[in-house]
Amino acid sequence: MSPSFAEIAPRYDALRPLSSGDRARLETMLRDAALQEGDLLVEVGCGTGRLTLPLAAMTPARVMGLDTEARMLDVARGKDADRRVEWARGSAYRLPVADDDAALVVMVMVVHLLRQRVRAFTEGRRILRPGGQLSLWTFTPRHVEDFYLNPYFPSIAAIDRPRFPSAAVLSAELRRGGFDEVRVELRDEPRQINIADVVDRVRGRYISTLAMLPPLEYRLGLQQLEEMLAQDRSIMLTQRSEWAIITARK
Ligand SMILES: C[S@@+](CC[C@H](N)C(=O)[O-])C[C@H]1O[C@@H](n2cnc3c(N)ncnc32)[C@H](O)[C@@H]1O
Repeated sequence: MSPSFAEIAPRYDALRPLSSGDRARLETMLRDAALQEGDLLVEVGCGTGRLTLPLAAMTPARVMGLDTEARMLDVARGKDADRRVEWARGSAYRLPVADDDAALVVMVMVVHLLRQRVRAFTEGRRILRPGGQLSLWTFTPRHVEDFYLNPYFPSIAAIDRPRFPSAAVLSAELRRGGFDEVRVELRDEPRQINIADVVDRVRGRYISTLAMLPPLEYRLGLQQLEEMLAQDRSIMLTQRSEWAIITARK
């Protein structure tokens, strides 16, 4: 089964609350981009605006959030009472923005969903002005190998290995997409998650990989976690997230 963001849209924000790590990464990215009033920031694959709206509150720039999934955008619009963001339905491969118009293009947890990454990078570069910045964040291969749910769902790593290539591969693809200057930062962000939250997230298939598992494996893994919850509600699991934060300049 392929991941359905339409299905998960109403619960997406509850299943993926903004972490202090997310906020710190947003701040670093905006500091690097040094946006001014009138500049354009485009978030490609913005989903429910989980990051778009905090970003918009942190910058004087104009902000556009773009996504293929209408129901994710409905949630985003519903949260944007002040209409601070321009929400657009569209694809990473054909952005509704003129050449050289944007100062910052953001892609967070999106490249693992793209079949043609170089095509999307070329399109991101097209809309950037000279000196403009594309910032992407994704998980590293080490994150995939050490993922805290691997012991319960043995196929997760096999599914995610091809979806989360190394920062070196992504950097080479950004260069093929026309970017000259590419910088990589890796951030290791360990945190503890309570077993009740883990069960809630897994039930909600909070990562797209859970929707791609064989159904029996999903049921058995969930059952194991539910049994742990029933035995001891104080159990904490340690999640080590390793992020690749890649910045490319036009
Ligand atoms: C894992 S979610 C991340 C959403 C948001 N960036 C965040 O971190 O909360 C990935 C989003 O990318 C969108 N997406 C997938 N393929 C896309 C494409 N080709 N063009 C634009 N958006 C896409 C999905 O609909 C989904 O909303």
